[in-house]
This record gives sequence, structure tokens and C-alpha cells, in this order.
Amino acid sequence: MDKYVLVTGGTGYIGSHTAVALLEAGYQIVIIDNLNNSSKEVLSRIEEITGTTPPFVQADLRDTDTVHEVFEKYSVTSVMHFAGHKAVGESVENPSMYYANNIGSTLSLIEAMQAAEIFTLIFSSSATVYSSTALSPFKEETEKDPINPYGMTKYLIEQRLTDLIKTHADWRIGLLRYFNPLGAHPTGRLGETSIGTPNNLMPYLMQVASGKLPKLKIFGDDYDTPDGTCIRDYIHVADLAKGHLAALQFLKGRTGAHAWNLGTGKGTSVLELVETVEKVIGYPINREITSRREGDVIEAIADPSKAYAELLWRAELTIDDMCKDSWNWQQQNPDGYSSTR
Ligand code: NAD
Ligand code: WQD
Repeated sequence: MDKYVLVTGGTGYIGSHTAVALLEAGYQIVIIDNLNNSSKEVLSRIEEITGTTPPFVQADLRDTDTVHEVFEKYSVTSVMHFAGHKAVGESVENPSMYYANNIGSTLSLIEAMQAAEIFTLIFSSSATVYSSTALSPFKEETEKDPINPYGMTKYLIEQRLTDLIKTHADWRIGLLRYFNPLGAHPTGRLGETSIGTPNNLMPYLMQVASGKLPKLKIFGDDYDTPDGTCIRDYIHVADLAKGHLAALQFLKGRTGAHAWNLGTGKGTSVLELVETVEKVIGYPINREITSRREGDVIEAIADPSKAYAELLWRAELTIDDMCKDSWNWQQQNPDGYSSTR
């Protein structure tokens, strides 16, 4: 059993679900997060679900000395690295902030890991690294050509992490390329929060469903797809969390850098997702068709067969589960964690 797993960004959406999965599997964890996009309340919620409050250090990952102190104090043996900025639009408006935070924090983390001789790292990458002109389903070797600064930071970090193997053969790196994460913890105690008006489809849909926003804009219904709307590979956050545990297990036996797609392999259109939400909530979603959103690809679907072959992992939860759990979270936490933020 590992001594401690450091979970960077562990109070965030995907990190908190993975923290719970790690604790439930018997791992000990320590979380570092600067709370830039999350709340301390998440720690109480993790305690409610697991009976354990993990040690938490509020710090920016770029503070290499503090990260090193955490390594020493907790005898950390592996790291799951979720911390980073994630909004595509914001990255186009302020690329410097994305390069500085996402790349800067990863370089600082690597430095601290090398100094402490910790060589196991699982990184939150994204399907955004693939070329926008590539055809789905994407395999891990599909052409990479990110079209926005956020995706470029993920791509460059993947390159840097892969390079580490050349300088030290003990590195064990997992590059997990998530497709479109949705859903929440089935208890409704952990979920995704948005500061301001959400940009992504599910958080926006939830706010329309609960009456906080008047209408969903569907960005184009004239794509070359069966119903004219874009197709994505939506994956439940609980399945993603399990993928991290499977990757950690795999890396115990092997060195090197390994990339895996974490998706379901199934495509769902915008309209299909809206209709599933309508079925779950029991009333229609107010919506209108508007023009296409710049930068959207028609279809992005994973080929997850490598993850199944190597990690024995595959997504089990359905679009229905994702919509039910997102709605349960929304109803229990209409303002996210903000009341205690
Ligand atoms: P999130 O914003 O909920 O969580 C990220 C956490 O990192 C936040 O709690 C934030 O406060 C923290 N953080 C940011 N910069 C930091 C820094 N310099 N030092 C310390 N903490 C810092 O995001 P999420 O949805 O949980 O995403 C987790 C990871 O997965 C991110 O790297 C993201 O790019 C990646 N990812 C997310 C999606 C998605 O759609 N949610 C898809 C693909 C990949
Ligand atoms: C899904 C579909 C929209 C909002 C983004 C990032 C990606 C990854 C996941 C981090 C698209 C449509 C959306 C709305 C709509 N994140 N839509 N009305 O763009 O596939 O992926 O999040 O790595 O990097 O780019 O997700 O949820 O924004 O959009 O019609 O109000 O919903 O056009 O077809 P996307 P999304």
C-alpha cells in the first residue's frame, strides 16, 4: 500500500471525486489546492462521505518549497495532478495566465518530485490535445494539434512529462485524456461548481432547469450529424475517478509514460443530452437554436480500448446516470458550495 498520494487540485470537481475513490480504496491522501476555483467546504463533504478528513494544505503549486515540505511530512509516494485552470474561453482571452499557471505549476511540481525522489505521476490531460480535424473515434496516437491556449498547455505538459523518462528511467507517468466529464457524487454532496455564468453544456442546462437562467442556447443544428447538433463523449466523473485508481495500479508494475483516453466510446448529441435532462427533471427545457460557437468540432468521441486492454477499466455509468446525478447535485446545492465559500 502506498504511504500517501498527493492530490493536487483535490478540492476541485474531478480531484474531489478521485479523493473519495482513493480513500474508499484504502489509500491515504494529502490535498494541495490554492482554492482558486474551489471551496474548503469540499473537505467536510469528503469527510461526510468517507468518514475521513484528508490533510489539506492551501498553497499554490508554484510554491515549490511548500510542495517539498508536504512530500517530506507525509512520505508521499505518488502524485495525482489535477490542479490547473480549465476554461477554454478564458484561455483565449488571457493566454499568459494559462501558460503561467498550468505549465508553471507542473514544472514546480516536477522539481519538487525530483528533489524528493518521487517518480509516479498521473496527469489530468484532455481530449482537447487532439487535432480539431481528426476523425472520431480518437485513438491515443491520433494527431495532436490543440486549437486554444488551454489545450496547448495540456499538450506541452504531456511533452514535458514524457521527456522526463529520458533523464530518469524510474519515472512512471500516466497521461489521462478525459473526454467530457459530467455528473456528480451519487449522494449529491460533491459536484461541479461554476463561478458566474457557466460555459459548458451541463452546468448551463442545470441552471436553466432550476430557473436560474432563462434559456439554453443550442450552438447550431446544421452540423452534419443525425439531428444537426454536435456530438460528444460524455463520461461520468465517478468513472473518471476509477480510471485514476486503475492507472495508479498499472504504474506500480511499469515505468515509462503512458497515455490513455478516458471516455465511454459512445457519442451523444446536444439534443439527446437535453432530452435526457428533460426526462429526468420531468419538464421541458426552455431552449433556442442559435449560431454555431467558434472552435466547436462536430464530433469528439474516444476510442477507450487501450484503457480497457491495459488498465482493465471501462466506463460503466450511462447518460441517464450523469443527468440524474447532476440534477441531484444541482437541487441539493443550488449555489454550489458558495454559502460556505
Ligand atoms: P477544477 O477547477 O474544479 O479543479 C482544479 C483545482 O485546481 C481547483 O480546485 C483550483 O483551485 C486548483 N488550482 C488551480 N491552479 C492551482 C495552483 N497553481 N495551485 C494549486 N491549486 C490550483 O477543475 P476540474 O474540472 O476538477 O479539472 C481538473 C483537471 O482536469 C484540470 O487540470 C483540468 O484541466 C482537467 N480536465 C478537466 C475537464 C473538465 O471538463 N472538467 C476535462 C478535461 C481535463
Ligand atoms: C458541449 C457541446 C457545444 C454550451 C469543453 C472543453 C474541453 C473539455 C470539456 C477540459 C458543444 C454545446 C454548450 C451551451 C451548447 N474541458 N453547447 N450550448 O466544448 O465539448 O469541451 O469542456 O479539458 O477542453 O473545450 O464542452 O460542454 O462546452 O460543449 O449548445 O450553452 O454543447 O456547442 O457542442 P466542449 P461544452
